[in-house]
Amino acid sequence: MSIRIRTALKKDFLAMHKMDLAANATHPFYIIPWKTAGVGACEAFILDRYEYLYHSRNPEYTFLVATAGDEIVGYLIYRKPLGEGEPGEWNPTFPNGTNLNFFDKVFGEVKAAKKQYNLKGYWELEGFAVHPNWQRKGVGSTLVNKFLESVDADHAKCCVRASRIGKSLYEKFGFKMMGVVSIDLKEFGDYEPYTTWDMQREAV
Ligand SMILES: CC(C)(COP(=O)(O)OP(=O)(O)OC[C@H]1O[C@@H](n2cnc3c(N)ncnc32)[C@H](O)[C@@H]1OP(=O)(O)O)[C@@H](O)C(=O)NCCC(=O)NCCS
Repeated sequence: MSIRIRTALKKDFLAMHKMDLAANATHPFYIIPWKTAGVGACEAFILDRYEYLYHSRNPEYTFLVATAGDEIVGYLIYRKPLGEGEPGEWNPTFPNGTNLNFFDKVFGEVKAAKKQYNLKGYWELEGFAVHPNWQRKGVGSTLVNKFLESVDADHAKCCVRASRIGKSLYEKFGFKMMGVVSIDLKEFGDYEPYTTWDMQREAV
């Protein structure tokens, strides 16, 4: 079946989230904070974030989905460079029971790492996944290509905080490593450190 890429509609958000969950079944973000709050809390949190970003114009976000027939099989969210003045930070209301220590620790360390780089003028890839049934068939590359078409039309640099698998994909598109962040999660249970790679791609 052929894959189509289009801009997401608000009615796609739930399917995007469910697909993301399927693609990230072992990701600590989808497990640790919601142990006591429940999966419904995770869903509410994510849909709230999508809603906020979708309407954000400073910086402007784009939501892309890959579809096979009616099914959403992949998504990618990116933003243009920050506009003049700081963007309104998303100020989430955490559902009852959310493990806030997890967010404080993980977001705190990720933000601190990001401060080392001067990312002014960079486009950023912020969310990206392909359903496990559709992985390794080129869907992810098609989405990244679509993102890079916009970046390159602007002759701009771009960056991403990559997962281990994402890293090998981005390398194929010319992204280079800026740094690595490894966060110890032992205080939350028997978890491996959460590691991400900060990568950037030069303007063309
Ligand atoms: C990363 C992800 C979006 C890739 O989607 P995809 O549709 O499978 O990607 P593609 O088929 O276009 O793969 C392109 C290249 O990426 C690399 N790649 C993809 N999956 C890989 C895997 N499991 N292991 C190693 N390399 C992989 C390969 O180099 C691959 O090229 P090849 O198949 O010719 O060897 C998908 O694996 C996913 O959703 N993973 C979980 C969520 C995630 O890590 N998101 C990225 C956040 S930065």
